[in-house]
Amino acid sequence: MSTAPQSFPQTDSSSGAGPTFAMLSCAHGAEDVVKESIAETGWRLAFSRPGFVTAKHDDPVPLPTGIFIRTTSRSLGSAKSSDGDELIDRLVEAISPLSLPFDHLHVWPRDRVPVGRFDFEPGGDEVSNAVAERILKRLGPERLRCSTANEIAQPSQSVLDVILVTPSHWFFGTHTATTLPTRWPGGVQPVAPEYEPISRAYYKAAEAIAWSGFDLRPGDLAVEVGSAPGGACGRLLEMGLDVIGIDPADMDPRIADHPRFVHYPARAGDLPRRVFRGAKWMLVDSAVKPDATLSTVRNIVESRESSIRGCLITMKLGDFERASQIPRWRREVERWRPERIEIRHLARNRCEVCFAVTMPT
Ligand SMILES: C[S@@+](CC[C@H](N)C(=O)[O-])C[C@H]1O[C@@H](n2cnc3c(N)ncnc32)[C@H](O)[C@@H]1O
Repeated sequence: MSTAPQSFPQTDSSSGAGPTFAMLSCAHGAEDVVKESIAETGWRLAFSRPGFVTAKHDDPVPLPTGIFIRTTSRSLGSAKSSDGDELIDRLVEAISPLSLPFDHLHVWPRDRVPVGRFDFEPGGDEVSNAVAERILKRLGPERLRCSTANEIAQPSQSVLDVILVTPSHWFFGTHTATTLPTRWPGGVQPVAPEYEPISRAYYKAAEAIAWSGFDLRPGDLAVEVGSAPGGACGRLLEMGLDVIGIDPADMDPRIADHPRFVHYPARAGDLPRRVFRGAKWMLVDSAVKPDATLSTVRNIVESRESSIRGCLITMKLGDFERASQIPRWRREVERWRPERIEIRHLARNRCEVCFAVTMPT
């Protein structure tokens, strides 16, 4: 038996006057921060589960965005059934009033547990991939232009989103691709590492670099503070950069022995500033409190010798309630006179956020 909750429409409200219905995904545990941030801008909260939030706005407004919002879609409704074909029937009904075909189909499950717990990583899984195949086949070229589900969308392309709140409870929506995370299925960057990554920080660094838009090039010098065992350095080396790793702990030998890698086995604050000379990029992923992290980075970027163009700083929250500190940390970074600051809870972040800080040239 399928149902569509009363609070959600079966048609798109994007075209005219009337309310706007949104469905958002975020990390498991970040939903309260998301709810708080959107409620402040007039959104009324509806159905939610950990990692998934829906809301209604009385006016035709743009969809909400924010640090902790991983994906945002215009909701078309939902369906519940233990029969997959029946769920697809409801999806077909929900999209029938819309202008078809969509360019892409993105299907993903909400996060089952916090990122990193029991080795959990966000994004598509076996069930959502099987569902995507079935939807693709049923919808066909009249309704979907893509020949494969979960491809990266190009800017301006339309995406049909299906979020599996559970395998038998789906939410349908649509969005137009703009920024990189909106182009990735479920907001999770598809990455195919050249070699087995040394740690999951490889994926986190890959996502931070892509999302920031920093123009890292082969031959550039990057420094990582908190570099052991070497996942992120592995990504930088794979991209052809020269890399300095700063960490009192040991690096994995695959990184330590790399000809383009130098290790300083020390704490960043104890090193002379000349160590950072010539570095264009700095990644910071040390297990240190955010205030101490910011004071270390400040000393480096404000040094007269610094030529750092971009910093990707992981700020540990410890608890999502500490998100309230982000505006204060941002004000601290503004004192460095950066050109630009972007903040995002990356899909691969645990309970931490990434600050991308562009320094003037
Ligand atoms: C989350 S791990 C880093 C993972 C690493 N980025 C990777 O890609 O594999 C945190 C690291 O920060 C290091 N650390 C803690 N305090 C530090 C400091 N003051 N300076 C440099 N490294 C520090 C720890 O030794 C630890 O190896």
